[in-house]
Amino acid sequence: MTERYVMSIDQGTTSTRCILFDHSGRLVSVAQREHRQYFPRPGWVEHDAMEIWRNLERVAPQALAQAGASPEQIAAVGIANQRETTVLWDRITGAPIGRALVWQDTRTEGLVEELSRAPDASLVPDRTGLPLAAYFSAPRIRWMLDATPGLRGRAERGEVLVGTMESWLIWNLTGGPDGGVHVTDATNAGRTLLMDVRSLTWDDELLAFFDVPRAILPEIRSSAEVYGTARRVFPGTRIAAALGDQQAALFGQTCFSAGETKCTYGTGAFLLMNTGTTPVSSEHGLLTTVGYKIGDDPAVYALEGSIAVTGALVQWVRDGLGLIGSAPEIETLARSVEDNGGCYVVPAFSGLFAPHWRGEARGVVVGLTSYITKGHLARAVLEATGWQTREVVDAMYRDSGLGIGELKVDGGMTADNLLMQFVADVLNVPVARPMVAETVSLGAAYAAGLAVGYWADLEGLRRNWHRAARWVPSMDPHRRGAEYRNWRSAVERSLNWIR
Ligand code: G3P
Repeated sequence: MTERYVMSIDQGTTSTRCILFDHSGRLVSVAQREHRQYFPRPGWVEHDAMEIWRNLERVAPQALAQAGASPEQIAAVGIANQRETTVLWDRITGAPIGRALVWQDTRTEGLVEELSRAPDASLVPDRTGLPLAAYFSAPRIRWMLDATPGLRGRAERGEVLVGTMESWLIWNLTGGPDGGVHVTDATNAGRTLLMDVRSLTWDDELLAFFDVPRAILPEIRSSAEVYGTARRVFPGTRIAAALGDQQAALFGQTCFSAGETKCTYGTGAFLLMNTGTTPVSSEHGLLTTVGYKIGDDPAVYALEGSIAVTGALVQWVRDGLGLIGSAPEIETLARSVEDNGGCYVVPAFSGLFAPHWRGEARGVVVGLTSYITKGHLARAVLEATGWQTREVVDAMYRDSGLGIGELKVDGGMTADNLLMQFVADVLNVPVARPMVAETVSLGAAYAAGLAVGYWADLEGLRRNWHRAARWVPSMDPHRRGAEYRNWRSAVERSLNWIR
């Protein structure tokens, strides 16, 4: 039977989704299942890795059934995953040891503060391209090993394995009685704080710094190569790609040349700019990250600006304030007024990520007068996403020296035309959205398809990118400048509201 599809698994923060793509990059079928979020204490966020695995076991056959396809028709499987979320499991039984600690989990902030006072703390940014922050995995691994008596000894003896979600899924998919393949890819390994971003290998000094035994770590491989053959879910199918979800979106948006940039607007927003084959270190609060590594080709790097709260602010307006009944209503409400009436909202609900990286910042609403209505507030809420994008893009210009010809966007918030126009206006750059909005899944599919020869090369993939919508800047430059100054002074208040 001919191999007609590539299967993509998107293991995200809230759900696990399987999508089948055909050769022209069209979405053929999709199945998805949410998993439970555990919040055992303030700031703690956990997932049950076994529930996630079981969800994959359910949704993969559903996606196949919808397409009327059998596993033999899948050329390869690619995985994109929520990054930095970390799980430990028993090498023999395959059972997770405790829950997975999610990227949003802040329990390691105290540990990170302590570690950052160590004389050799500068090792971390120098070698990894990332700030020493609770966002990344290594402090979580250390926390988990310390939390259970005897676990460290077992880890040192190789009885325990660690991984991010792609690692966990590949191990289970390829697993038999003797266990599965224990691998990760460079985009995911690069978010642990344990990988040297230049050599793409685990670094002994970083392992010592975080006190993580090498024996528990997966092997670092490229993002597109055959890691193994599935023994479960789709037996006989090659597992041929893994990328962190934001890097997968960069790939799915076909940002293959230096300067090409994408932004995914979801609960938070993640901007990634392709910077070519040499890592660019950031002086302006961005992350240096591996964009993708296709087989034996040199790694392609990216600068990343992670914004913690974008869509989550709209959810708060809906659920916390009750001003709207559904998220899309924010646009209607915002359109009921001409402008923000002088009001700005900085949504630093859990501090500010890029380019500030200030965990203690808190949200502010400034410029309130009795003139302000809920319409103005709705506008300020949407504009907050635009201005946060602008701050990250400014940092990208400064760090990379590269310009952005057009910002490629995806994610749920791109359905909001008012917002997308505002982003184009404040960046003074056109913004474009592709026909296939599932860029995370598409990127993982592309990488897997390249690895097995289903797609021949990057140029072929570029031809699959078709524009669905484009927004061209039209804001008066004086107004842009004045409003940006107002935004920055609102951010100042958010950073320093308690002195
Ligand atoms: O770094 C965290 C990011 O990978 C999470 O993405 O889409 O699963 O919320 P998402």
